[in-house]
Amino acid sequence: MKTLNKLVAIALPALLLAGCELGSKEQEQVGFRGTAMVQISDPDSKAKVGDIPAPPYELTAEMIAGDRASTAYENVPVLGNVSVDEFNYLMQAMTTWIAPDGSNVKDAGCTYCHNPENMASDEKYTKVVARKMLLMTQNINATWAPHFSKQENAGVTCWTCHRGNPVPVNNWSTAMPEPGTITGKKYGGNTPAASVAYASLNFDPFTDYLAGKDNIRVGGKEFPTAASQAAIQSTEKTYGLMMHMSQGLGVNCTFCHNSNNFAKWEDSRPQRVTAWYGIRMVRDINNNYISALGDVWPANGKGAYGNRRGPHGDPLKVNCATCHQGINKPLGGAKMLKDYPALKGAAPVAAPAPVVAAAPAPAETAAAAEAVKPAA
Ligand code: HEC
Ligand code: HEC
Ligand code: HEC
Ligand code: HEC
Repeated sequence: MKTLNKLVAIALPALLLAGCELGSKEQEQVGFRGTAMVQISDPDSKAKVGDIPAPPYELTAEMIAGDRASTAYENVPVLGNVSVDEFNYLMQAMTTWIAPDGSNVKDAGCTYCHNPENMASDEKYTKVVARKMLLMTQNINATWAPHFSKQENAGVTCWTCHRGNPVPVNNWSTAMPEPGTITGKKYGGNTPAASVAYASLNFDPFTDYLAGKDNIRVGGKEFPTAASQAAIQSTEKTYGLMMHMSQGLGVNCTFCHNSNNFAKWEDSRPQRVTAWYGIRMVRDINNNYISALGDVWPANGKGAYGNRRGPHGDPLKVNCATCHQGINKPLGGAKMLKDYPALKGAAPVAAPAPVVAAAPAPAETAAAAEAVKPAA
């Protein structure tokens, strides 16, 4: 018995500390031979795509061509140019995506956004939010096309983020440490947190990189000979963000990087360019749409449907996991947008982003950043 106890005492911590998952792994060579570009995945822990709700009914070309919604309704600044039939179809779909009838959401159904006595009134904050979200979704699909494959109808709908919930399951808000406390002295580190896949890295890489515009450049110029000028804090934060990106997409670092040199664009995979656009797209979503709603978000304790802000008063924002949910192509790459043409949005007002070759030089990506100007 004593030896057994001893054995358990030795074996248990060893297992806990091993940091490895049991079971067989799949590996794929995604670039130049060797271990620098090998993609390892665990078939057991692959995220599931889940059911995608069917459209409310078939939307025919005749229906799309019918009378405009602005001729039938009073207060439709965003969807006024869509046909009445398509408008009603979209209202039904939005209800399924955000507050489905029969769910345990309070006021589920049309009344989640509307006062049924007066559909045109904007008295519920949820309707005001939904109007901004319509503009946001159109902007994602039109302006941020470089984040999506060139396949027709690759893009997003409200479902991509919401999945039948008023607030998407994966979100973040500022989580700066409290300076007055002992935990505050850790500068956001040494607190294994889910946000960075339980690494002991700064647990809020989002405020600076997915809302702020801080540069994500920590490598030395002439790797490995020249030392990096970056502070250890920004290096840790960069790695924290990278841990989130890997976990959010359910991939390893080598899905995007050649681990021989993480900074070098020429040796990276094309997916890193997609991710580069993704970071800029997320900043646009968070700053120009969600945070721009300001005090439309009720103060905590004041909302009809629960808290909509984090502990520091900022609203709940988007990161890679909001859409991806552990899969490199959200919803397994399903092309939902084809059934909801009203969400495609107009072609971008600014010149379309230049086609970036598989391996952009930093200068080219900087130029691309200039070209992709967020719409108002
Ligand atoms: C997630 C929020 C949301 C839900 C749920 C919702 N709507 Fe709407 N509805 C809106 C928004 C936003 C507008 C205004 C669109 C615009 O600005 O162009 C609107 C406008 C309307 C209008 C036009 C009213 C007018 O005269 O201006 C009608 C009619 C309408 N909705 C019907 C419905 C019906 C029926 C349902 C349930 C099947 C529904 N809506 C569910 C957000 C919602
Ligand atoms: C990129 C992800 C994303 C997409 C796409 C998106 N939303 Fe949202 N939405 C959010 C986030 C995040 C919140 C939560 C913000 C908060 O609570 O502070 C939210 C909140 C809302 C709310 C407020 C709910 C409440 O109870 O407070 C409504 C209504 C809403 N969205 C409607 C829509 C509609 C309609 C669409 C499609 C036209 C849409 N959203 C598309 C991310 C998204
Ligand atoms: C989905 C693609 C993707 C994944 C996965 C990914 N990265 Fe990155 N990484 C990027 C992009 C894009 C940038 C550049 C960001 C920018 O310029 O805004 C970057 C930048 C970096 C940098 C800074 C490079 C420089 O120029 O100084 C380091 C270091 C890094 N990543 C390490 C990692 C590590 C370690 C992992 C795994 C834990 C990882 N990355 C996973 C896309 C990815
Ligand atoms: C608004 C939703 C949304 C958000 C937020 C988002 N993505 Fe994506 N992303 C998509 C969609 C949709 C696709 C697939 C497009 C297609 O079907 O071609 C995609 C594709 C990708 C791909 C290509 C995958 C492949 O297999 O080739 C990468 C890499 C990627 N995203 C990285 C990111 C990173 C990193 C972030 C966070 C900084 C991010 N995405 C945030 C919607 C999103």
